[in-house]
Amino acid sequence: MEERKWFKEMSMYQIWPRSFKDGNGDGIGDLKGVMSKLDYIKSLGVDAIWFSPLYVSPQADYGYDIADYCDINPDYGTLDEFKEVLAAAHERGLKVIMDLVINHTSDQHEWFKKSVKREEPFTDFYIWRDGKGKNGKKAPNNWMSTFPGSAWEYVPERGQYYLHLYAKEQPDLNHDNPTVREYIKKVMRFWLDMGVDGFREDVITEISKADGLPNGFPLMPASRGMEHYNHGPHIHEYLSDYRTVIKDYDAFQVGEAPLLTPKKALGYVVGDERELDMCIGFQHMEADCILIGWLKTPFSLKKLKKVYDNWQTTLYQKGWNANYLENHDQPRVISRYGSEKYRVESGKALAMMYSFLSGTQFIYQGQEIGMTCPYFDKYPEGTDPWAQFKDVSTFCVRDLMRKFGFSQKHILKVAHTAARDCARTPVQWTAGKNAGFSDGEPWYAVNPNYTEVNVEAAEKDPNSLLNFYRKIIALRKQYKDAAVYGKFEIHLKRHPHLFVYDKIAEDGTKLTVVLNLSDKAIPCKKFAKYIPSDAQELLSVYDGCSFAAVTKPYEGKLYISNVRTGE
Ligand code: NOJ
Repeated sequence: MEERKWFKEMSMYQIWPRSFKDGNGDGIGDLKGVMSKLDYIKSLGVDAIWFSPLYVSPQADYGYDIADYCDINPDYGTLDEFKEVLAAAHERGLKVIMDLVINHTSDQHEWFKKSVKREEPFTDFYIWRDGKGKNGKKAPNNWMSTFPGSAWEYVPERGQYYLHLYAKEQPDLNHDNPTVREYIKKVMRFWLDMGVDGFREDVITEISKADGLPNGFPLMPASRGMEHYNHGPHIHEYLSDYRTVIKDYDAFQVGEAPLLTPKKALGYVVGDERELDMCIGFQHMEADCILIGWLKTPFSLKKLKKVYDNWQTTLYQKGWNANYLENHDQPRVISRYGSEKYRVESGKALAMMYSFLSGTQFIYQGQEIGMTCPYFDKYPEGTDPWAQFKDVSTFCVRDLMRKFGFSQKHILKVAHTAARDCARTPVQWTAGKNAGFSDGEPWYAVNPNYTEVNVEAAEKDPNSLLNFYRKIIALRKQYKDAAVYGKFEIHLKRHPHLFVYDKIAEDGTKLTVVLNLSDKAIPCKKFAKYIPSDAQELLSVYDGCSFAAVTKPYEGKLYISNVRTGE
């Protein structure tokens, strides 16, 4: 039997603070803005908020480059304001999860500055190596950063190279050094003592690098060397060490884990001795691309179903899933797996698709109103198209694609659903000035569709995606024995457009999800036999209408059957 845990039943709302809501008119989202929207967040029915990094940061990677782990970036407010938000969230019964970015810091962090100068105890806080070759001018190995380019940067003052798996402003911490781990544990305790409920841990499976830092597979144009640092030799030892802190507080941990398979996940998330409560994997976000969003393929539902089937069955009654469709790195899902033409319908179908899978549910700001990706290939004549982008990784990928001979037109077209910028446009609150995000000039352009797609309009429409999400979140809780803990059984595995699955509780209560994830008219007889004869409809993409001879675009329904009445 699946062990019941509070974090398993959670729906978690992710805030990427810079674009959530500006409260002081400087064009940048902040804690004041968050405070003003706590009631809205609570009204969704979610149980927790995950804050993408709020810490002091020069923003080379928008907060994932931390210069002080124990203070708030002035753009966002102060530590006291954070404490107020924390208290106000707790008053509303919302847990608060912080991002913990410990694979690397900012190069502006005191630890790094002191490490450059070889001041103790910081000398070996980072991964420093001598250069190779006659004059030591060559990088220590051939690894390449995830944001392409060498993963090594030379610092004349120290006369050595440091490793950075991400931007050069993000030097990797040396977790092999036990003092580093003690410092990190202090940081964790700082937030947990304040009352924070847990952490989302950034690229946590990359913190242990192979001894000797061997060369990586040479053909990889980015993230070269990953086979030597993802799920590295001491990963379980280091995670177990950090887990001791989590256990002291009965806190929660979700770890981001690139290149994760369900089998590998079992190594992290099983039993009382687990090192993480769940992992953020990526396989289900690769149904329209090969590994990264920029290597586009047509959306394949078959591929997606295979991934879900594998994760749901492998982890059943053993480990736990983190279910998400969007975040600050993943462009808006309607533009990727759904249809902008059928924005609300496909948004509803996708919401139904992932909300009844076993796992903790994650919802990214703006997902609940069906925000879509902006069009970067439509820009005023005579302007620089690249001025539309802000994300470090977009520029790196652009340069790499240029090297491989891709045209500007092609790169901009792909960027529509690949650039991380797409996920980072300000939340659209109203149809008014700057979408109600800010009274000042927004730090980043608002998607022009805000006049139609915004919270205010969605609140007024009983059939909006927003109100649909509220229903879904409530149903997921109401029928948690099946929805959260039930056994997953998939039908029509090979059908290119239909996604039909059951979730069966231990007492036999069954939820059945039937979805047409396309705009095609599919004969309903294809799936009719999977709808049990005693099934009652709980939810429908098209309200108040039953399946006809053929499906409507993105039509879908949720049923319940075999309900036990307590005999
Ligand atoms: C994963 C984060 O989600 C992403 O935004 C960031 O750029 C990298 N890790 C590096 O911290």
